[in-house]
Amino acid sequence: VNHLLGIKYLKKSDVDLIFETADHFKEVINRPIKKVPSLRDITIANLFFENSTRTKLSFELAEKRLSADVINFSAAQSSVKKGETLIDTVNNILSMKVDMVVMRHPNPGAGVFLSKHINASIVNAGDGAHEHPTQALLDSYSIRERLGEVGGKNVVIVGDILHSRVALSNIYALQLQGANVMVCGPKTLLPKYIDKLGVKVETNLKKALEWCDVANMLRVQNERMDINYFPSTREYSQQFGVNKALLDTLDKEIVIMHPGPINRGVEITSDVADSDQAIILEQVQNGVAVRMAVIYLLASKIKQ
Ligand code: CP
Repeated sequence: VNHLLGIKYLKKSDVDLIFETADHFKEVINRPIKKVPSLRDITIANLFFENSTRTKLSFELAEKRLSADVINFSAAQSSVKKGETLIDTVNNILSMKVDMVVMRHPNPGAGVFLSKHINASIVNAGDGAHEHPTQALLDSYSIRERLGEVGGKNVVIVGDILHSRVALSNIYALQLQGANVMVCGPKTLLPKYIDKLGVKVETNLKKALEWCDVANMLRVQNERMDINYFPSTREYSQQFGVNKALLDTLDKEIVIMHPGPINRGVEITSDVADSDQAIILEQVQNGVAVRMAVIYLLASKIKQ
């Protein structure tokens, strides 16, 4: 059985194939009839054990654009609340002839764990602070679209690196494609193992912005913190928030990204988030085509 559990498990050729396939689907979803009949014989369950707006809707739309049958499961309204285990929950869903599972879960490694216990393709839609592979793929796809290629570009990921699955998946994806990667944030929000990831580390945002072609601004994930991390929100926005006045001090125009949801006025101000320099909504739009590609390629292996 084939899965997308993390970028860590992909090769450069896998990413290239996903992007070529996404190029085709991007053209499809811009047609008056936005659907293809490719997956009429496939049923997909979207299992969300954690909140989501973009990823959940983007997967559902991608699946429907491919003509798959789709069922949606939200843990908050399910029998998980009565004590049913993850494996029992998923095996009950699979007994209804489901071929593929898209899962978001708060525990790092939940997708890998599940893959050892069930007989279906699994797509990781975010597992705790571990990986969010489709987010990293759509981020790289969006850089490729805006700048022509990812290889050789200087990309800084700014903010709460410690709690971010977006950061880890982006580091793997960008390095796989030959980009130069920097992380920038307060020391308290950098993981202890950061030196092992082969990235540059910077704690001064202005220096990071001067170095980069692309800045990916992350949200501080207060929901994953059980102690008071320095700095406070006000100090954070002063030291690590991007605003137009700061960008105007640079001698070049950099590309601004954000995976969403945005905390306006904390990591990014509205005059940047809503500017032409930002590709935040392009990222969301590209997410549908990239997820169509991932699902299509995995489903073609189920059919073999
Ligand atoms: N980028 C992202 O994962 O957003 P959601 O949490 O809304 O899915």
